[in-house]
Amino acid sequence: MKKSSLVSGFYKLSPKERLHLVKEFANLSDEECDLLQNTGSLPLSIANRMIENVVGAFPIPLGVAVNFLVNDVDYLVPMAIEEPSVVAAASYAAKIVRDGGGFRTSSTPPIMIGQIQAVGIKDPETARQRVLEAKEAILKKANEQDPVLVAAGGGAKDLDAKVIHTTEGPMLITELYVDCRDAMGANAVNTMAEAIAPIIEDLTEGRVCLRIISNLATKRLARAWCFIPKESIGGQEVVDGIVNATAFAAADPYRAATHNKGAMNGIIAVILATGNDHRAIEAGAHAYAALKGRYTSLSTWEKTEKGDLKGSIELPMAVGLIGGAVRTHPIAKIAVKILGVKTANEFAEVLAAVGLAQNLAALRALAHEGIQRGHMSLHARNIAVAAGAPEKLVDSVAEIMVKERKIRMDRAKEIINEIGRTTDK
Ligand code: MEV
Repeated sequence: MKKSSLVSGFYKLSPKERLHLVKEFANLSDEECDLLQNTGSLPLSIANRMIENVVGAFPIPLGVAVNFLVNDVDYLVPMAIEEPSVVAAASYAAKIVRDGGGFRTSSTPPIMIGQIQAVGIKDPETARQRVLEAKEAILKKANEQDPVLVAAGGGAKDLDAKVIHTTEGPMLITELYVDCRDAMGANAVNTMAEAIAPIIEDLTEGRVCLRIISNLATKRLARAWCFIPKESIGGQEVVDGIVNATAFAAADPYRAATHNKGAMNGIIAVILATGNDHRAIEAGAHAYAALKGRYTSLSTWEKTEKGDLKGSIELPMAVGLIGGAVRTHPIAKIAVKILGVKTANEFAEVLAAVGLAQNLAALRALAHEGIQRGHMSLHARNIAVAAGAPEKLVDSVAEIMVKERKIRMDRAKEIINEIGRTTDK
């Protein structure tokens, strides 16, 4: 019989009842169902409150990158990620950067942008002037929505308005600038944007449509930079290779996407570990990389007069330490404690340093020995596990595959059998 995915009231069921339904649909075994609902450190009751239609939890490894020195403060950096080598690479790069005194960072105040779209306006330029003239009243209304944020020194601080020309005619976009302090800010900004919409409608005599935060957080930037003596990174050739790699990324969006992905490997792993919104960070980073009209590299690496290396990165960093999963996910709370950051700005700056470290590690490997060597052994271990190697054989199976340069499931299975036969004798 053809199965239907049309299920009414699925959300009203308990996780167990939902899983029962999914089990029937997807022919899951009892063992698979047990795995799904054996949620370990994220109790099903908490998961069930975090999102809708919960049937289980999805664990991914949590590692800790070591060696990070940022503005003379030592940090252990929790990273949640499925990709081998990322945590090791970050730790390795952070160690090298220590030779040059560690990372230095800065950041802007934690200002997020809320957008209010008004359409059907007869005279958009005049409407724009009217919105700008009513700034104080609009900010007052916005701030009434969040007295707690205002008491903490945050709140709506300023606004601007712009006329854009679209396929549906001109529109007036009002942008509210909200200091979100230690919150990521989506809730605060969206509430404020919705609250001021009627004022915007009155002023513009138009119709307000969207009222939502922008993930291109150009007013909430984090920067990190570092200096590395050439001896620490493997000599002049490696420095030149890294500088060349940057020039490649700066000039070619196909390379820039991968270059930036390397930096985001580290940033997103920390974002995930701390329960922050990684989609917002990804969207902001890549949009920022294209802000000048052409997608390019988020970081730069240059050679100093003496032939040493210096690098920097700048990107939007809309992160919070309060609200959302940061406060509800038990592991995210521990991850924040491990990281030890006290403000969203400090957090954003450490994240920029992590991105720069991750980018450096990737470029160093690419410019030096190629990325595969470092990846090989971890990859081989993963293949060995997937091929069914018992724990005590994983390292030996991986080692043989790396030596033979045949890191494949079929070979892993053969080796497991061969070793099994010799140990049976
Ligand atoms: C792999 O996850 C990331 C890299 O491709 C980054 C880069 O090429 O710079 C190694």
